[in-house]
Amino acid sequence: MDFAIKFGTSEKQRGACVVVGIFESRKLTEPAKILDDTSKGYISNILRQGDMEGKANTTLLLHGVPDIPSKRVMLVGLGKEKDFNDKAYQLAVSTTFKALHQTGAADATLFLADIPLKQRNIAWKITQTIIIATESAYRFDRLKSKPEKESSILDKATIYVNDQASLLVGEKALQQGLAIARGMSVAKDLGNLAPNICTPTYLAEQAKEMAKLYKLKVSVLEQKDMEKLGMGAFLAVARGSHQPAKLIALEYRGLAKMEKPIVLVGKGVTFDTGGISLKPPAEMDEMKFDMSGAASVFGTLTAAAEMKLPLNIVGIIPATENMPGGNATKPGDVVTSMSGRTIEILNTDAEGRLILCDALTYAERYKPDVVIDIATLTGACVIALGHMASGLMSNNDQLAEELLQASELSSDRAWRLPMWDDYQELLKSNFADMANIGGRSAGTITAACFLSRFTEKYSWAHLDIAGTAWKNGKEKGSTGRPVPLLTQFLLSRAKA
Ligand code: BES
Ligand code: MN
Ligand code: ZN
Repeated sequence: MDFAIKFGTSEKQRGACVVVGIFESRKLTEPAKILDDTSKGYISNILRQGDMEGKANTTLLLHGVPDIPSKRVMLVGLGKEKDFNDKAYQLAVSTTFKALHQTGAADATLFLADIPLKQRNIAWKITQTIIIATESAYRFDRLKSKPEKESSILDKATIYVNDQASLLVGEKALQQGLAIARGMSVAKDLGNLAPNICTPTYLAEQAKEMAKLYKLKVSVLEQKDMEKLGMGAFLAVARGSHQPAKLIALEYRGLAKMEKPIVLVGKGVTFDTGGISLKPPAEMDEMKFDMSGAASVFGTLTAAAEMKLPLNIVGIIPATENMPGGNATKPGDVVTSMSGRTIEILNTDAEGRLILCDALTYAERYKPDVVIDIATLTGACVIALGHMASGLMSNNDQLAEELLQASELSSDRAWRLPMWDDYQELLKSNFADMANIGGRSAGTITAACFLSRFTEKYSWAHLDIAGTAWKNGKEKGSTGRPVPLLTQFLLSRAKA
């Protein structure tokens, strides 16, 4: 879909559809009023007849409105004016695009971003519009023998602003929105892909493709390289699989070489059966999404490269399957991590932290400014925060604060959990330096505590995206989160 930002008024639009908002009960927004005046009360008459109240999640499509050059006028319900907040705006925009795709209109002009919204500026409204519009047109049908029959899809949206000054800000917000939307689509595609296709080898190939496209530096370590580095924890997870594990590194350079990079480490378990600690069969297919952390690194690097951000960024992706097998790691096995510390693997299903700990040690060689890892790490995080927020844990309050601000700005929620030393005790092992699990309580925090032992040399934050990376049920599919949060974090860093 193409987008443009323009300045102008609703009654002059000649396109296929003009979209204006109506508050409950039947209160016209400014652009709707202008259409109403120009058409001599045509719209208010229709409202008076009871065809639309202005409730959220409703639309009314009008054809041939007198004296209005646009072929169609779409009225969108905004709900009560006093309740019009971020969520209401997002809902109005998604309702609009869902409805637009059902019409024959190929283009539309939207008068929604000019509606005042407390706490959110025009840039936010535009970026959100682009993300939501792109999501509304997202399809993943490449694995179907023929694409599903659909009504035509809108291919151009013009977003109107109500003053000249907003044009410049708007244009920038448009570019950022496009970059984030592109990054999210990249992440979604990788997540949604079947696990027999999206293997560690496939991820490595994608990294090479991406490196070519955006002129990034790429390296792929093979298992023998990882053996030399002593990555015993990572390799312990890969043992049961016939698919060779890969350690992928992508380097984006937007600054001089000596500037310390931001390192993003993404969990890339392309399928998590649990290994010998086998998972129950229900919904196990969803464990193809266990590489969503990796997908978000691909997506965020895409967005950063699209915007040519003045930052140095490194993406590190440990990629493997977690499978049972004759050669697989067993509960009770003790392995030596790249850091030299030994780990008693009490549960082979706690594999994410095993691949991440070696990737986090590997990250040291980039002399990072900060390291952020992103992982579908614990089911416990879904219990704690549901599907609304990613879990955030950090050894640095300022970094945690920056990420929380980015989550607020991008409306891609995260919530911090504590990492008090007391939790570390739960990882005690009788036979090795530490165990890979801490028991049932505080599962999200003990997983982070495990990682924290490998991040002592730098500022580090951990995002547990187990609840936010994908949707289950009827709308099963990757969400592209937390690409918006991470990209906003980078944008804020680039500005500072
Ligand atoms: N990939 C899973 C976490 C997960 C589970 C994410 C369900 C989303 C939905 C992870 O590898 C895992 O299996 N974690 C275990 C840890 C436990 C054995 C300490 C879990 O959460 O059950
Ligand atoms: Mn697991
Ligand atoms: Zn996992």
